[in-house]
Amino acid sequence: MTKKFSKTIMVTGGAGFIGSHVIRLFATKYPSYHLVNADALTYAGNPENLKDIEANPNYTFEKADITDEAKIFELFEKYAFDAVIHLAAESHVDRSIMDPLAFVKTNVIGTVTLLNACRKYWKDKMDGKLFYHVSTDEVYGSLGEEGFFTEHTPYDPHSPYSASKASSDHFVMAYHDTYGIPVVMSNCSNNYGSHHFPEKLIPLMINNIKNSRPLPVYGKGENVRDWLFVEDHARAIDVIFHKGRNGQSYNVGGFNEWKNLDLVFLLCRIMDQKLGRPEGTSAELITYVKDRPGHDLRYAIDATKLNKELGWSPSLQFEEGLEKTVDWYLDNEEWVKHITSGDYQHYYKDQYEQR
Ligand code: NAD
Ligand code: TYD
Repeated sequence: MTKKFSKTIMVTGGAGFIGSHVIRLFATKYPSYHLVNADALTYAGNPENLKDIEANPNYTFEKADITDEAKIFELFEKYAFDAVIHLAAESHVDRSIMDPLAFVKTNVIGTVTLLNACRKYWKDKMDGKLFYHVSTDEVYGSLGEEGFFTEHTPYDPHSPYSASKASSDHFVMAYHDTYGIPVVMSNCSNNYGSHHFPEKLIPLMINNIKNSRPLPVYGKGENVRDWLFVEDHARAIDVIFHKGRNGQSYNVGGFNEWKNLDLVFLLCRIMDQKLGRPEGTSAELITYVKDRPGHDLRYAIDATKLNKELGWSPSLQFEEGLEKTVDWYLDNEEWVKHITSGDYQHYYKDQYEQR
């Protein structure tokens, strides 16, 4: 019997921001791969993000919580996955400060549950299998004014979010060393682009500028982040998935550092132009608010290894990417409205549960 698909891949967290871009890229670029999106649809998961590809014959959605061992094992039995691309996570630092345990549950216990499934179902034949763990540069902690994070920078997480991601990274490498599970990992800088939940800096500011609401800048706005267009991250995941060396981690970043305040001013300028407002109008909305506790000063990624070994580099200039992003938010008011009103949570019911 010939197999219908050349590879069956579980993508966890595919209804989220980055996961939806990864699924879209893989499902369209590799019609012979079967992508199974395993997502619990928390507040951050929105199946509308994949509306354009949900009818593709090589895409399947499975509502699944990665901490639910019975469900995860059931999916491994049902689909006999060749690979896992693991993106599901609690991902917002501010929420991790309010409720750290939720981050331990999904990011640590969820990751270990997936690794246990790989251990159980792949034990007779690890060859050709792959567990790809998508992680963050925040595990490295905070830089001063100088220097970059490399793959050799010691882990030094400061927020409950980054501590949970660091722990999951260690488990992935421990399962590779102990049980021989083939793994690759990437640690990426801050992403921006379409379908980004408007609790994170860039989509929150776009939404507030549009609605002439205050723009809350933490502290003095001096913290620095290294921004990468989300589709470039998805391209990096594609390259690392196919060509990354077993047991290795790769840093992914945009070589694109911005102070928060400068970034907010740039967004204000772009949006004044797009909305036909006199220059300087939106910047008047900037409001300095209490700083985030334990706020990391600066992140900056050295992505030389990924560039030299696998030939990846970012494709977009930041201003171009930001303009594209602003345009997407202005053209997709319904998406933002659904998210902010909570209506998107009905979408799953309408779309899947009544079938
Ligand atoms: P997101 O919050 O937008 O999406 C997370 C997805 O995971 C959602 O669809 C949610 O429903 C799902 N999920 C959460 N808990 C789950 C559970 N217990 N079981 C199953 N599904 C669950 O996150 P994102 O920004 O797309 O980030 C994806 C991954 O990339 C995360 O692992 C994050 O740590 C990492 N990352 C993010 C960034 C960034 O800038 N956003 C940068 C580097 C790395
Ligand atoms: P965020 O998008 O939450 O990403 P992360 O904390 O994972 O880097 O925040 C990016 C930066 O913007 C961070 O330094 C915190 C700051 N920030 C604000 O100043 N105001 C806000 O309303 C938010 C959400 C973030």
